[in-house]
Amino acid sequence: MTAPTPQRVAQLMQAEQARFERTHARSGELFQQGKQHWLYGAPSHWMRRWMGGWPLTIADRPHDYGIRLADVDGNELVDFCLGDSGGLCGHGHPAIVQAMAHQAGIGTSLMLPGGDAAWVGAELQRRFGLSYWNLTTSASDANRACIRLARMITERPRVLVFSGAYHGSVEEAHVELAPDGSVRLRNGIHPNAFPHDRLSRVVEFNDTAALEQALRAGDVACVLAEPAMTNYGMVEPQPGFHDALRRLTRETGTVLVIDETHTISSGPGGYTRAHGLQPDMFVLGKAIAGGIPAAVFGLSQAMAERVWQALPPLPPTARQSAHAGFGGTLAGNALTVAVMRAVLSQVLTEPAFARMLELAARMQRGVDDTIAHHRLPWRTLRIGARMETLFAPEAPRNAADVRRTRDHALEALLHLYLLNRGVLITPFHNMTLCCPGTTAADVDCHVAAFAEFAAQVSA
Ligand SMILES: Cc1ncc(COP(=O)(O)O)c(C=O)c1O
Repeated sequence: MTAPTPQRVAQLMQAEQARFERTHARSGELFQQGKQHWLYGAPSHWMRRWMGGWPLTIADRPHDYGIRLADVDGNELVDFCLGDSGGLCGHGHPAIVQAMAHQAGIGTSLMLPGGDAAWVGAELQRRFGLSYWNLTTSASDANRACIRLARMITERPRVLVFSGAYHGSVEEAHVELAPDGSVRLRNGIHPNAFPHDRLSRVVEFNDTAALEQALRAGDVACVLAEPAMTNYGMVEPQPGFHDALRRLTRETGTVLVIDETHTISSGPGGYTRAHGLQPDMFVLGKAIAGGIPAAVFGLSQAMAERVWQALPPLPPTARQSAHAGFGGTLAGNALTVAVMRAVLSQVLTEPAFARMLELAARMQRGVDDTIAHHRLPWRTLRIGARMETLFAPEAPRNAADVRRTRDHALEALLHLYLLNRGVLITPFHNMTLCCPGTTAADVDCHVAAFAEFAAQVSA
């Protein structure tokens, strides 16, 4: 098994860059215009993460439900990025379109519950198993709310995260372990005057001994964790790790917050239900309202009771309680809740997940066959509908393994190569998502483009 040479990768990259510039010129012009008024040339800095030098501008053109889009240069696109999960419902699902239009005609943001609130609350409880729920406008917000509640009820300062984790704009989580084991800020992020040394703690994923040592100090309010890591590279929990995490958090009185914003790809009840986890708090964002900015967090019965002790609900005649310290006034608005109902009842359903998982397995088989055919030292990993292609033969156990084996030049080439063939994958590491609107023909487009890429780099 031999990896592609750096010379071959550089040669192909040059050709792909030229092709990108030729075939995405109009998007390039619009990006130049965008640079006059957007801080990073487009409405969000995330849109700058794509290879090529500028983001594609999506054409203002109606299309059927699914994952096929077109850009302003007339390129046809098959979308496996799906907004890095926010588009997990697919683009233009009729039930979502209808729910949006219907609620928009009634009122979008009322600071009062709409007619769908009771149904959605009951469904969240049924689906994910936690007793009490609250909405926020983003998963970052939901994580911050859980951290705040955990600090309130434990009266402890620190938040423990796993190295390589990403939980949105959560200051406490911007830390990682450097190769020498010291703690540093991830991705060269600005410290923002935040006292990470006093309020954060970080250990490697799957390292039970380090976790135990970190929790026994008794100053950690909560562990904030993805059940399987998806943001640095995909890292699966090793057998017994979740049992140890649950046992150690219970023994040390630490709140366990499971962030399922990406691992909802596991199935209709997320990784938590698929693997029988028992979080104290549970976070789910992005896809839950069909891509409208929204997230939910859930609390177990025991956690809710502790929260109510610290912050009692209002008595019937009072109008002002202590502010919970989280959540904007847009959170839980009627539009969001109406769309959540459509998503939970008609889009991200049990049968839809069964199809999504089947299609992701089809993609994995296709990519695995290509890897075997060219005898490349690569492999795939999959968490339900989410698949990752690794340019390494072994599954990583933690962020240090990912860092050691990552090939940034090859990764960049794969992204640009697929983009030039109209196949969109998440612009960070090599992740794809299947949604209820994905078809076998869509998956085969990815498999064919990947096969072409593998043949080119192996030549
Ligand atoms: C696991 C996880 N949590 C939280 C977030 C942040 O989500 P949002 O952008 O909605 O704040 C992300 C975003 O990628 C994520 O992957």
